[in-house]
Amino acid sequence: MTKSPTVRLLLGLLITLAAVTGFSSYALEQLSGLRKLQTQTIDLNRHDSLLLLQVESDVNTIGLKLRDMTQMPQTSGIGEFRNEFARLRADLEGAIQKDARFAPATRRAEDQAALADSLNQFWRTSDQVFNRASTGHERAARALVSTQLSKEQSILANRVSALLERNNESEERADMKVASIYAGVERDIYAFWLATMVAIVVTSLYLIYSNRRIFEKLESLSRQRRVLAARMITVQEEVLRSVSRELHDEFGQILTAVGAMLGRAERKGVPADSPLRVELSEVRQITHNTLEKMRSLSQMLHPSVIDDYGLAEGIEWYAQVFQRQTGIETTTKVSGNAVRITGQPAIHCFRIVQEALNNAAKHSGTKRAEVEMTFSADKLTVEVRDFGCGIAPARRPGKSGLGLIAMRERAELLSGSLNVSSVPNEGTTVSVIMPLQQEDHAPEALEDENIGELVIREL
Ligand SMILES: Nc1ncnc2c1ncn2[C@@H]1O[C@H](COP(=O)(O)OP(=O)(O)O)[C@@H](O)[C@H]1O
Ligand SMILES: [Mg+2]
Repeated sequence: MTKSPTVRLLLGLLITLAAVTGFSSYALEQLSGLRKLQTQTIDLNRHDSLLLLQVESDVNTIGLKLRDMTQMPQTSGIGEFRNEFARLRADLEGAIQKDARFAPATRRAEDQAALADSLNQFWRTSDQVFNRASTGHERAARALVSTQLSKEQSILANRVSALLERNNESEERADMKVASIYAGVERDIYAFWLATMVAIVVTSLYLIYSNRRIFEKLESLSRQRRVLAARMITVQEEVLRSVSRELHDEFGQILTAVGAMLGRAERKGVPADSPLRVELSEVRQITHNTLEKMRSLSQMLHPSVIDDYGLAEGIEWYAQVFQRQTGIETTTKVSGNAVRITGQPAIHCFRIVQEALNNAAKHSGTKRAEVEMTFSADKLTVEVRDFGCGIAPARRPGKSGLGLIAMRERAELLSGSLNVSSVPNEGTTVSVIMPLQQEDHAPEALEDENIGELVIREL
């Protein structure tokens, strides 16, 4: 028995589906990693860098102001810068607070704290500068500016630019990571595509291979079945033929001889009014009837009329027998140039007609049947029609009984075709088409002795 490929194919399908699902979730995971990187690192970094740039610009402005303070003429006081410093302080602190909120995950806490410390330190010193200036110690204030405050400003500027630098570095690292994720996903897509192609090709090849094996197996089984059916039908026909011949030749001879002997005994030496003579006559009558029955049985088993006169005559003879036996009015019609068909093909065709008529009698309830034979140049079509109930759909050929199946087998043996059409309550038509060969085109009416054995196709 060929193993069904279904389990393997289902397994292949399952593996492919699992691979597709696995790869899709992998791709989705990579995408969400990318999105996380984008929102949590790159976007945050950019926003933070913008704030740091604002801080840097404020720190630079402060640097310029400090230079102005140290270079301004002695006549002006440092106190003039107080308001401007207050505005810059508010701006700067606002920016630093925002920056602390948007600081990227990569920012180190100590860097943030160091920036806050240096800023606080700067403002403390600047407060000292303005206090000294307001208490009239202008000189000391200027000295504090040029020594300590300028230094603290440059520390502040360095811290800010270091933070900017770090942001840039982390942005570069994130960019590289994004590029590597893209490259990895791209490489995996190619690998997945290749693996899927291989899986599809392997599965398809396997499917084609197993289909071919199944078809070969089917083909061989169907061949075996045809050969077996042909053998069975041939053997059956041989048996019927030999039983028929045996009945006709052996028992027919015996019964004929018994009948003749009884006749002679009747006539010889038995007085006409003797009861023995009456009994002898009755026995002779019984013998005669038995002989008749046996002959008709022999004909039914294998109609020698086909061998002697051909298929058309055989069918006409059977139609009469059928009408007599069943009471169904059966007409036959021959059209076209009838040729004499004998041998196995004639027997097969005859058996099909026999089965179709028997089915009509058994199943259709018809009162009338028609058999029509149409000869054409290369084929003979025989149609058997009844006007009964028709074949119920559930009992179409092949669904029950062996008669219709055997008809098909015989039609196949004829290299012909069989068609059964049926209309409910209108009747059934069985039509068989058998091909004729050129040598079969001898007129049916020719003398038997001159015809010899015409065989359409010996099987
Ligand atoms: N001429 C017909 N009219 C009605 N029914 C039919 C006719 N021929 C066949 N059938 C239906 O088809 C079935 C199959 O026929 P067949 O194969 O010859 O088997 P069987 O005659 O042994 O039942 C029959 O049982 C019958 O129901
Ligand atoms: Mg039948």
